[in-house]
Amino acid sequence: MSAQTSENFKTPDEETSASRKELQYPNPLLVHKFYREGLKPQILRMALLLNVFSPLRDGPQNAKKVAKACNANETGMSFLLDSLCAFGFLDKNKQEYQLTATSSMFLIPEQASYVGNWVLEQTNPTIFLNMLDTLRNGEPFFPNMPWHELAWLESYDTSRFDESLEMWEIAGIDVNKQNEVRIGDLACGCGITSFAYASCNKYAQITCVDNQKVLDVAQNLAERMDITSQVTYIPQNLHDVEFVDRCYDIVLLSNITNFFSPEKNIDLFQRLYSALEHNGQLIINVTMAPPNMINEHVNLYSLILWAITGTSFYHFDLYKDWLSAAGFVEVKLLSNLWLSAKKAM
Ligand SMILES: C[S@@+](CC[C@H](N)C(=O)[O-])C[C@H]1O[C@@H](n2cnc3c(N)ncnc32)[C@H](O)[C@@H]1O
Repeated sequence: MSAQTSENFKTPDEETSASRKELQYPNPLLVHKFYREGLKPQILRMALLLNVFSPLRDGPQNAKKVAKACNANETGMSFLLDSLCAFGFLDKNKQEYQLTATSSMFLIPEQASYVGNWVLEQTNPTIFLNMLDTLRNGEPFFPNMPWHELAWLESYDTSRFDESLEMWEIAGIDVNKQNEVRIGDLACGCGITSFAYASCNKYAQITCVDNQKVLDVAQNLAERMDITSQVTYIPQNLHDVEFVDRCYDIVLLSNITNFFSPEKNIDLFQRLYSALEHNGQLIINVTMAPPNMINEHVNLYSLILWAITGTSFYHFDLYKDWLSAAGFVEVKLLSNLWLSAKKAM
């Protein structure tokens, strides 16, 4: 259960008109859709718990051999493996199953890029029982997220590269200009947003802050993007980092401020104001939902955010208040997801 935020959403008007149909005539498909959507994740969960992918890492095998290696029933295993073929995690040739590029990269526990724990955490029935408790008692339950596994997935998501370049452009930053720019990518994950910039401007220097396991993924991506000499790493909680005054020209906070309480964000923005060079720029990438918005993505993840951390998707006006109080000027909403603010000259 995470609260990734990089998704555009419709305006309140569009949403309201769509849901009005449900008021007029009962829709059984809406009910079917909901429990059916829950089936596929649980099948993948069972496949991971049985560890069905590992026996295939050295080449194709039939269901009998996989069942034996997983200590499972052969008939059930052939149904399970066929389902995994239909989902795209396996391929079947005659009676033998083989890994796809996706399963061999992400679903083999022996691989550094294994993300099975992330999937198991997202599909864990206990998490939903914890959430039920939170709904009853109002106390967030702070699950332990294997963030480095999410970072592996993000690091192979090519659409994020293009989105990142679009973000820099809309923020008024010319990525192709070859000039010295110091960027702090705080809570960087795999770092793809700032690395997209660094891959265009060879003089950009990125400082990545996150935990060590996540930074290992960022380092791997920096190698794949051939920008290793442009990146340094600080394995630390960003609330504890003692930033040197005016050490960055740009600071990026991507998909993170929604996890912090208002107090933590206010404190962070004050510290980042000092950390930025005069005329430096702070860019925030996060869903900024207007109050009372009805939108599937926003409402679902608002509930999840509240349950796991007690926070929410803050509205742009709140960010503007916090940033202005910290001294920032030119606080601008660039899109549903992007905000830019400047430190005065
Ligand atoms: C949703 S991911 C976003 C990663 C990346 N910025 C992106 O947009 O893809 C949140 C990241 O924040 C990191 N994180 C959460 N709290 C943090 C903290 N207090 N200090 C440093 N990193 C933190 C997590 O480890 C995780 O990598």
